Amino acid sequence: MTRGPLLRPEPAGAEFLTLLTPPDWADVFGGPGPLELEIGSGAGAFALGHAARHPGVRYVAIEWRKKYARELEHRARTRGLRNLRVVEADARAVIPRLFAPGSLSGIHLQFPDPWWKRAHRKRAILTPGFAALLLERSAPGGLFDLRTDVQARAEEMLATLEAAGWHNPLGPGAFHPPDPEDVPSSRERRYLASGEPVYRARLRKR
Ligand SMILES: C[S@@+](CC[C@H](N)C(=O)[O-])C[C@H]1O[C@@H](n2cnc3c(N)ncnc32)[C@H](O)[C@@H]1O
Repeated sequence: MTRGPLLRPEPAGAEFLTLLTPPDWADVFGGPGPLELEIGSGAGAFALGHAARHPGVRYVAIEWRKKYARELEHRARTRGLRNLRVVEADARAVIPRLFAPGSLSGIHLQFPDPWWKRAHRKRAILTPGFAALLLERSAPGGLFDLRTDVQARAEEMLATLEAAGWHNPLGPGAFHPPDPEDVPSSRERRYLASGEPVYRARLRKR
């Protein structure tokens, strides 16, 4: 049985992988606009929906699973979404090189792998150091959009972000209510369909 999309031959975002300093994003996207980043875009429903809904946003999705990254780039191209770029890479490795301090208007981290086994917990993507780096790369007023179905991970990640200096306008530890205007991610669609809870936080850089 085949799981997920087939592997397309063309790497996604290969031109960004050798860069040691951030590209001129205005050049990449053909103009200025808010720059947003998604970490671990998976099957890409949020990236496609959000980029289509906000054509003025320049959206960069980073996903290290090649088949998902390449499929997303293919879909963005076939849908004519010129404001979406996909990079197949380890987000932790490339973000420091691709985004200048103060450059990101939005960061989306949705349903990151929960790493259930205690021995694997150190693989969790949102470490204190990474939360601080993302704050530094964020523009003043920039959004951090966090979503997960795992309450314990939601609480941990929210605490990590707040400790790094991300501001929670709803108060420390508070989750954001569901927003009917939100584009659901691929994972989120499942939970919305089954009625399972989704924990959301929307933090800001002061
Ligand atoms: C559970 S899935 C969620 C996908 C998507 N955000 C959603 O909500 O449908 C987590 C995704 O993050 C990706 N991922 C995990 N660590 C990553 C990293 N360091 N760099 C890039 N992608 C990563 C995984 O390959 C996977 O596709």
